[in-house]
Amino acid sequence: MKIALITGVSRKEGIGYATAEQLGLQGFRIIVAARQLNQAEALAQDLSKLGIDASALHMDLLDRDSIRIAAKHVKEEFPKLDVLINNASLMLSSSATVQEKDMDELNREFETNITGTWYVTQQFYPLLVASGHGRIVNISSGAGSYADPDFGIINFPGFRLSELGLYTLGAYALTKLALNGLTIKMGKDFKADHVLVNAVCPGFTATRPGFDAIGGRPVSESVDGIIWAATLPDDGPTGQFFRDRKPLPW
Ligand SMILES: NC(=O)c1ccc[n+]([C@@H]2O[C@H](COP(=O)([O-])OP(=O)(O)OC[C@H]3O[C@@H](n4cnc5c(N)ncnc54)[C@H](OP(=O)(O)O)[C@@H]3O)[C@@H](O)[C@H]2O)c1
Repeated sequence: MKIALITGVSRKEGIGYATAEQLGLQGFRIIVAARQLNQAEALAQDLSKLGIDASALHMDLLDRDSIRIAAKHVKEEFPKLDVLINNASLMLSSSATVQEKDMDELNREFETNITGTWYVTQQFYPLLVASGHGRIVNISSGAGSYADPDFGIINFPGFRLSELGLYTLGAYALTKLALNGLTIKMGKDFKADHVLVNAVCPGFTATRPGFDAIGGRPVSESVDGIIWAATLPDDGPTGQFFRDRKPLPW
């Protein structure tokens, strides 16, 4: 039985839940993690109703003890982990410009998206190695690319949503840029253990109210590239950046 852990599964509309559902329907044993355990538990129950073997885990990326404890629980229950989807991510006050940005918020975003993701990966790494063919998918964004024509750091002009204000994707984009760099480093370091790791942009996805009206696509379309990266063959790519199974410019 193959086992997959997905972080940041707190909402049914989110990319994390859709990824869990798709992997579950492919026969994976699913562990969904969220910072509010009751939310992950409710979603694990929804997965179970689809015939998927699923359980929930408390994990807050800003709380290293919770990550260590979560890894200990999984190690006690399972001898290995086949897939880790680093989906959890924080984007605060996206309306802030460089000049307006609050430095404590900035630190929380980096602490979640980089330090937290890094620490989760460290803690679950021995289980991924134990599977003999571990796969890690770091959920990134075209916003963390320099050259993405729509959302890349050079090209993205920002957009305005009436209820949410101006989206500049400033600090968030820089955390995803760093995540992409971390993916390259992980790819090199993990190769000897046959653990493949790639960054995947799901594309602009309608996971929030109003996103569909400005071009966000259905979540079902966005998860295909994530599932592909999670189930790569042993000679598949590592340390790369993809969207919809195709390489994305850094
Ligand atoms: N939607 C898009 O257009 C889009 C585009 C490109 C990339 N992405 C990426 O796709 C991933 C999923 O995004 P989404 O659109 O599906 O939104 P989402 O449902 O808000 O997913 C983000 C998840 O991260 C969790 N999270 C935040 N801080 C956390 C912490 N300290 N510890 C643990 N979990 C934490 C959130 O939990 P709470 O509910 O508790 O806050 C939520 O479950 C993210 O990595 C995002 O950057 C999305």
